[in-house]
Amino acid sequence: MAQLTQVKKAVAFIQKKTKKFQPEIALITGSGLAGSIPDLQQKITIPYSSIPGFLQSTVPGHTGNLIFGIYKGRKIVVMQGRFHYYEGHCMKDLAIAIRTLKFLGVQKLLVSAAVGSLDLKLRTGSLCVLKDHINFMCNNPLIGNNHEPEFGPMFFDLSVAYDKVMRKTALAAAKKCKINAGEGVYLAVTGPNFETPSEIQMFKKWGATVVGMSVVPEVLAARQCGIDVLGLAWVSNMGCGIEKTPLSHEQTVRETKKIEGKFKKLLEILFVKL
Ligand code: HPA
Repeated sequence: MAQLTQVKKAVAFIQKKTKKFQPEIALITGSGLAGSIPDLQQKITIPYSSIPGFLQSTVPGHTGNLIFGIYKGRKIVVMQGRFHYYEGHCMKDLAIAIRTLKFLGVQKLLVSAAVGSLDLKLRTGSLCVLKDHINFMCNNPLIGNNHEPEFGPMFFDLSVAYDKVMRKTALAAAKKCKINAGEGVYLAVTGPNFETPSEIQMFKKWGATVVGMSVVPEVLAARQCGIDVLGLAWVSNMGCGIEKTPLSHEQTVRETKKIEGKFKKLLEILFVKL
């Protein structure tokens, strides 16, 4: 099925369930971060598995639900659980959910993720507000999706992929919540393995601040269709080789669980201020 047809089917199904609720802000929650969602009014939860054309998340720690609701007057949708390239999904299918959000009315996207840090000032529990990215996945969800003007232009500018105003707001909110935070560059790898110490050293030389296995496909699809993006990367570990402990997914989930409370407070500010 053409992706436009797929997206339109998903949108029609969702709009029937939500009575045409038009979310303005979307949030994607990463590993272990599903518990940080602020308490929404008039909540409607739709499992991914019930939406025609939608993908399914398969990773422990990633629940699969679209949650709609209102927070202090702002219309919100949350993707509780995301899709990763390493799960075996086709790269271009990673654009489906983002385009569905766009067609539902979303104008601003908050992408959260757990990351490994390459910066000694951003240790475990810190927040890296993304100012740019390096796509080292060596693939792109927009390839082969170039026939649909409704998804946006094929060639588009990425000089400011992460919205400057939202970045400033996020840093100020982090300060208010007493979260150690700084701006940085996200380097995307495919995963599923963590990196080698040599790769981490190379990424550092390239200008990366943090490394992770998601974010970039979502950001590319969002920027193509004109959604403004804020990237919130939570440090669950230092990059491989920086500390002695071997890395594991369990550590990622455990460390991000620890920041759930702080993240919820941050989101409560951001949902109002953005
Ligand atoms: N590398 C890649 N992805 C990650 C890491 C990491 O160290 N930590 C959490 N996600």
